[in-house]
Amino acid sequence: MSEAVEPVIPPNENALKAAGAEHLFIHASPYRALANDSDKRILVEGRGAIVTDIEGKEYIDGLAGLWLVNAGHGRKEIADAFARQAATLAYASSTQATTIPAIELATRLAEITPGDQTTAFFCSGGSEAVESAIKIARQFHYFNGEPKRSKIIGRRGSYHGATYGAMSVSGTRPSSEPYHSPFMHGVLHASPPYCYRCDFRQSYPACDLLCADQIEQIINYENPKTVAAVIAEPISASGGIVVPPDGYWTRLREICDRHGVLLITDEVINGFGRTGRMFASEHWDLVGDIMTTAKGLSSGYAPIGAVMCRPHVMAAFEGENKLAHLLTFGGHAAACAAALANLEIFDREDLVGNAQRMGVRLRKGLEGLSSHPCVGDVRGLGLLAGVELIKDRDSKEKFAEDGPELTMLGEGLAQRGLLTRMGSVLPLSPPLCITPEQVDRMVAIIDDGLTEMEAAHGFG
Ligand SMILES: Cc1ncc(COP(=O)(O)O)c(C=O)c1O
Repeated sequence: MSEAVEPVIPPNENALKAAGAEHLFIHASPYRALANDSDKRILVEGRGAIVTDIEGKEYIDGLAGLWLVNAGHGRKEIADAFARQAATLAYASSTQATTIPAIELATRLAEITPGDQTTAFFCSGGSEAVESAIKIARQFHYFNGEPKRSKIIGRRGSYHGATYGAMSVSGTRPSSEPYHSPFMHGVLHASPPYCYRCDFRQSYPACDLLCADQIEQIINYENPKTVAAVIAEPISASGGIVVPPDGYWTRLREICDRHGVLLITDEVINGFGRTGRMFASEHWDLVGDIMTTAKGLSSGYAPIGAVMCRPHVMAAFEGENKLAHLLTFGGHAAACAAALANLEIFDREDLVGNAQRMGVRLRKGLEGLSSHPCVGDVRGLGLLAGVELIKDRDSKEKFAEDGPELTMLGEGLAQRGLLTRMGSVLPLSPPLCITPEQVDRMVAIIDDGLTEMEAAHGFG
């Protein structure tokens, strides 16, 4: 006689929250955040651009989870592809073998990535992709007879991940330095191409791209023969949706080439349709020597990342020149199958085209909010958009990240049915299958939320 299996936790919200508060250490949160932080909810279902919490409340997923559910929620065919492959062969160790889905995905990526980025190294997420790219760059120089080329140049304000190397090259020192320094040796940071808050107090085009030239100054000062790579997102998402001015990428590409420095383009967020092109690099005909991807590669249905390398990079690894780097989950067969199914949806539903069209609509809607006294700047490309919020137009004074104004705004947006991640730049990065009505609803919710916050805090 079979006995009914008791659920581990009674399926009611209070019991789940209590268990989660006790046993789950939520990333980037204090202990017991599930009990104490109204911002933390339990989501149970998703369809397209909409997610539903355990109380049945629906939200527009304004950030596509954490900038990754590009194909949208509830895609049974991705789940089925994962399940089919897991039931057939979930895993093979790269020390002995590879699998059909890994080969197929690498081949597909070679076709769709910019230029001749034709070889893929698989891993399980963005941080691992960045760690891998750094190691590939350093070994590339070593095998080419330049072992002193180990330094990496990043940009202030950027984010490239949470593991040690990725954190070190990120331009987020103020938030990580107190706890995690000393960082990886040999990392330098340059100014971002952040025209709204230019480090040089210049305006484009009169500035003649001083921010790009500063990177060349750093390379020269350090001695080019000691610099391995520059790492940068084509459009810096975490840096505040910073779209560089025209000419920036051509200049930086030339600088790297002039000094034999590899350019690592980080498309972990930018990639897979987010900006209205398959890869953001395409907006500027940019081809990184190494490109990091993750997130939208599987739209979040499986943890997977890919580092794309060009033939001249791979040439350094011919013969006996092994990559001294191995990740257990790299090339996970079921994850690769999920990514392949995800990319099929991109083709069939023209998600990149929809991102471009909905991006134009979103941009127009957000620009219509410019009369709000706290809206300083609206920017972005495709469905990667940002609204920079300020206390004062002249001084461009920022709001404190955890201050009452942004807290109120974040809560107001969630109450009205929009999930995003509040900061002094309000980011919007919804699933690429979002409908025109949902785009308009996002804008209307932000409009109402801003009106409420500005009235409560005496702006305007
Ligand atoms: C540009 C960029 N690179 C790398 C990462 C790290 O990715 P992951 O969180 O998957 O490790 C992120 C994460 O948001 C990112 O934005």
